[in-house]
Amino acid sequence: MPKIADIVLPDFPLLLAPMEDVSDPPFRALCKEQGADVVYTEFISSEGLIRDAAKSVIKLDIYEKERPVGIQIFGAELDSMLQAVDIVEKSNPDIIDINFGCPVKKVVCKNAGAGILRDIPLMVKLTSEIVKRTKLPVTVKTRLGWDSDSIKIVEVAERLQDVGIEAISIHGRTRVQMYKGFADWKPIAAVKNNPRMHIPVFGNGDVDTPEAAVRMRDDFGLDGAMIGRASIGNPWFFKEVKHFFETGTHLKPPSMEERVEAARRHLQMAIDWKGEKLGVFETRRHYTNYFKGIPHFKEYRMKMVTSDDAADVFAAFDEVLEKFGNYQFA
Ligand SMILES: Cc1cc2nc3c(=O)[nH]c(=O)nc-3n(C[C@H](O)[C@H](O)[C@H](O)COP(=O)(O)O)c2cc1C
Repeated sequence: MPKIADIVLPDFPLLLAPMEDVSDPPFRALCKEQGADVVYTEFISSEGLIRDAAKSVIKLDIYEKERPVGIQIFGAELDSMLQAVDIVEKSNPDIIDINFGCPVKKVVCKNAGAGILRDIPLMVKLTSEIVKRTKLPVTVKTRLGWDSDSIKIVEVAERLQDVGIEAISIHGRTRVQMYKGFADWKPIAAVKNNPRMHIPVFGNGDVDTPEAAVRMRDDFGLDGAMIGRASIGNPWFFKEVKHFFETGTHLKPPSMEERVEAARRHLQMAIDWKGEKLGVFETRRHYTNYFKGIPHFKEYRMKMVTSDDAADVFAAFDEVLEKFGNYQFA
C-alpha cells in the first residue's frame, strides 16, 4: 500500500487535484466524504503569503475532517518559498506540495509553476531547501516537461526523490500543451518503472471515467490517480471509481435529491467559512456543474447565480427539488 511518509493510503488511492477557485474547504470536504483519499488546496502564492495578502492567507484554512490534506505553494524565489513554508507549517497540514506544473503565463514568466521545468537545477535546489526547512512531508506536482523536446521526467523525478520528496504527481502533458490534446501516461509509467524510484508515483490528466482509472492502475502500473476536472460538480466521482474497482459495475448517477443536498451543504459550508456574502458569491460557479444537462433549467440556475441572499438560493434549491425531483440523470 502506498505511503506518503507516515501517511498510509489504501491500495491505488484517489487524490483530489489542486484546482484554483475549486479545491476550497467546502469542495474538499464533499470530495473527502465521497472517497477522496488525499485532498490538496488550490495553489497559494509564496509571495502573497509573505506579504500577508488576505487572498492568499485565507487559502491556508484547513479542517480536521479533510485530513490528510496537502497545502500547495508556488514560487521561484528561494527566500520567499522558505518563508512561505514557515507560514504554511503553522496551519498544520499533513503535506506541503510544491507546484511545478502551472502553465499560466503570469506564473511561468516568473519561472514559477511549470516555468521551472526550463531550469531543472533550480527546481531541485528549491525542493531540496524546502525539504530541509520542514518536518512535514513534501510532495511535488509537475508536468512531463516544458515541451515535447525536453521530456526528462524520469531523471527529474529521481533527482527530486533523492533530495527528499515523499511522493510525486505527474500531469501527463507538457507546459506547451497547456490542456490541449490527451495526457500521455507512458512517460509517467517510465518514472514508476525506474528501479531507483521508491516513492509513490501518482498519475494525473484525463482520468475522467472509472475505466480510465483502471487503465492507469493496471496498464500503466501507477500508484494512484490524481483527479481534477472529472470531480468538478461531481464529488461523487471518487465513489464511482471505487465502486467500479470493487464490483466492475457502474453506480447509478447521483439523484436530484443527492445533487440538491450537495449544493445545499456546499453553500452552507461556504457561508460558515467565509460569511454569507462571499459564501453565496463563491459557490455560484459550482451550480452549473451540479445541475448539468437538465432541460428548461435556466430559470432556476439564474435564481441560484444572481441572488445575493442565501435564503433565496436555499429556496431555489427547494423549488428545484419540487419541480425536477424525479428527473433521471443519464
Ligand atoms: C480550474 C482548474 C484549476 C487548476 N488549478 C491548479 C492549481 O491550483 N494547482 C495545480 O497544481 N494544478 C491546477 N490545475 C491542474 C489540475 O490540478 C490537473 O493537473 C489538471 O486539471 C489535469 O487533471 P484532470 O485531467 O484530472 O483535470 C487546475 C486545473 C483546473 C481545471
